[in-house]
Amino acid sequence: MGTAHGDFADSISLTDLYADPYPIYRTLREIAPVAWVPVAGRYLVTRHQDITALEKQPEIFSAAEDGSLMTRVMGHTLLRKDGDAHRRERAAAEPPLRPRIVEAHWRPKFEANANELIDSFVDRGEADLFDEFCGPLAARNLAMVLGLDGVSDIDMQRWSQAMMDGGGNYADDPEVWERARRAGDEIDAAVADTVARVSRTPDESVISAMIHAPDPLDIEQIRANVKVFIGGGLNEPRDSMSVAIWAVLTNPATRDAVVSDPSLWRSVFEEAIRWVAPIGMYPRQVAQRVELGGVTLEPGSKLGICVGSANRDESVFERPDEFDIFRPSRPHVAFGGGPHFCLGTWVARAQVAQVALPTLFHRIADLAVSPHGEVRLGGWVFRGLLTLPVVWTPS
Ligand code: HEM
Repeated sequence: MGTAHGDFADSISLTDLYADPYPIYRTLREIAPVAWVPVAGRYLVTRHQDITALEKQPEIFSAAEDGSLMTRVMGHTLLRKDGDAHRRERAAAEPPLRPRIVEAHWRPKFEANANELIDSFVDRGEADLFDEFCGPLAARNLAMVLGLDGVSDIDMQRWSQAMMDGGGNYADDPEVWERARRAGDEIDAAVADTVARVSRTPDESVISAMIHAPDPLDIEQIRANVKVFIGGGLNEPRDSMSVAIWAVLTNPATRDAVVSDPSLWRSVFEEAIRWVAPIGMYPRQVAQRVELGGVTLEPGSKLGICVGSANRDESVFERPDEFDIFRPSRPHVAFGGGPHFCLGTWVARAQVAQVALPTLFHRIADLAVSPHGEVRLGGWVFRGLLTLPVVWTPS
């Protein structure tokens, strides 16, 4: 006979998780914080304290998942490696992503990109900011950071989507594999061009850093890691931007506060990724028998680390479903934790909190959600807005 929490976990559907995972997470945190969820094919871990604890034990909770679809699509990236193998690749990619380089080198470029995009629609008085600002800006910034000069916003976004769809192709859809394979080939060709250029003339890009590192990466490692950057460094800034813009547009008191004190944009960004974590769930695999949240997990057990849930854990955040930039500061886990803690946090903060949000609201003072369009929100593994139609008085 099933238990109450087993029945609840069995009843969870992917459609419900996609539409709104938060009520499901709330119940799981309360009755089954580590629960086998059949549609996910893994134990979902939903409490803040369990997630922060497991990220401190990477030798037990491994990132090297067996049968990883991400590895099938991208090759063996740093995100699916543990220990020294991971540390070495991370160290090679990391120098251009440090705060000092981001501030001095990347931020002015992000500003130019944001202004150029706003110029392209500011006279019109209406736009879908998801399609015309957030997506292209994140794509353009990421291409620059990687060193993929000349790659279009459209190709970057198409490649990113193909990588993400392939990494989540649990339905084994042959068309999805084919799209991912083609995108992978195109990425490899673009990487080859950059490698040829930066081998001769080093620059501040991530690909250049990987080649000229004291312990350089080989071409297979560079190809795989560029794919993980493209699959994991575009949609999160895009989604955090659109969610933050929407939250500010729909909270007049917050809007007034940030317009009069722009230093608050940083809080807007951090609260937006707490409120709707762009990566809502990521995988781990149990390497040694262990107890977590009252459940004994055997080696090989697959876990879904639900940071989207941890960020709404009521034992850490009061009124967790509300967007509130003045809430007491508590550590959210939208950037993950442990050895795989997001490598792009400073790039993300610069492009969203320091550039995209203040520039947009400064240049278009009367921006408003369009009364005619529909704002749509979806996803649970990756979650964010799908549309953001807005209007303003054209300049
Ligand atoms: C709001 C923006 C972002 C969010 C919320 C975010 C979130 C995350 C999370 C949760 C992880 C850990 C995944 C795991 O452990 O399985 C991660 C890792 C990573 N992120 Fe981000 N990310 C963001 C922006 C970026 C950007 C802009 C870049 C690239 C410039 C980037 C590059 C990476 C890389 C390379 C890793 C893998 C690190 C490793 O395995 O050591 N991220 N990110």
